[in-house]
Amino acid sequence: MMNTVVMRAEKDNLESIAAAASKLLLAGELVAIPTETVYGLAANAYDGEAVKNIFKVKGRPQDNPLIVHISDYIMLNDVATGVSDAALRLAKEFWPGPLTLVLKKTEAVSEVVTCGMDTVAVRMPSNPVAAAIIKAAGVPLAAPSANLSGRPSPTTAQHCVDDLSGKVPLIVDGGHCDVGVESTVLSMVGEHPVLLRPGIISIEEIRKIAPDAQVSHAVVEELKEGEAALSPGMKYKHYSPKADVVMVEGSLEAFAEYVGARAANGVFAMCFDGEEESIGVPSISYGAKGNGESQAKRLFSVLRAVDAIGAERVYVRAPEDDGVSLAVFNRLIRAAGFKVVKL
Ligand code: TXA
Ligand code: MG
Repeated sequence: MMNTVVMRAEKDNLESIAAAASKLLLAGELVAIPTETVYGLAANAYDGEAVKNIFKVKGRPQDNPLIVHISDYIMLNDVATGVSDAALRLAKEFWPGPLTLVLKKTEAVSEVVTCGMDTVAVRMPSNPVAAAIIKAAGVPLAAPSANLSGRPSPTTAQHCVDDLSGKVPLIVDGGHCDVGVESTVLSMVGEHPVLLRPGIISIEEIRKIAPDAQVSHAVVEELKEGEAALSPGMKYKHYSPKADVVMVEGSLEAFAEYVGARAANGVFAMCFDGEEESIGVPSISYGAKGNGESQAKRLFSVLRAVDAIGAERVYVRAPEDDGVSLAVFNRLIRAAGFKVVKL
């Protein structure tokens, strides 16, 4: 077990935090860092040994590649090649910010990052702490979400402490993440841009810049037996709390009746703001109805809280499946192992 230090980033200590984090990163160590989406577990993307350690610490499957985080366009050219005009237009519109582009990789990026693929997922985070750390390190940082594999992504430093204490030397505390779900992942290496993972930047927003962008069906549907995943992350049952999660579509009245009839010890519900008292089992809100941003921000904290109270079964009010809510729907349907009850 190593000693894990938590450093709280404030406006006036950003430089010294970035210096401490980058020193560790350049020495091959892992550092948990805040980003605008979720916390990331970062390593120098050029250091294969350090990146291997990310997979080990997280217990991450060896075939699920990592996102490379950059702080400027010089770094983009260091890690990606043959970047199309459409990709550049999207970058100019949404970077720095929660959009990840899958591009052709250069030799510089360690094979460990991309799991041997010839493409690399790249994003330029807008969180000032993340940006300062990448800049101070002077190298791109490979960083998956800083949770143990299979746990909900961390949206606070405490979540990182819960999962990584004793396993990494430094966790940088940047407060609660603004967005709360991981970045939108868009493949830019095929004939059309393809949405591989929905995030707060919706497909509708992307189509304003790239009208031919498509949505991979795996975003809302389970992959068929033997079907190849465009993005390895699609295969895994992510965001899975210990409890059995069931997504329920229908009105509040129908939901309350359905769940009420199944009330028992260990049975909980996840609902929208103001609905907590109308359901016959202990209920916790994960955001405002019809407001994808507010749901995204709270979703992972609530999934972690549900585990912490020892829930055995959780019925969840289904969010919409368009706009920003598609990102929330996508996380929940995976947490539910694609179990959906339609009332
Ligand atoms: O918001 C985020 O993206 C956060 C923060 C820390 O930046 N990171 C994150 O990383 O969510 P991770 O590793 O948990 O998710 C990366 C996703 C996975 O679904 C992975 O399969 C996909 O990106 N991915 C990575 N490289 C890829 C590639 N070359 N082609 C297709 N998908 C790729
Ligand atoms: Mg993840």
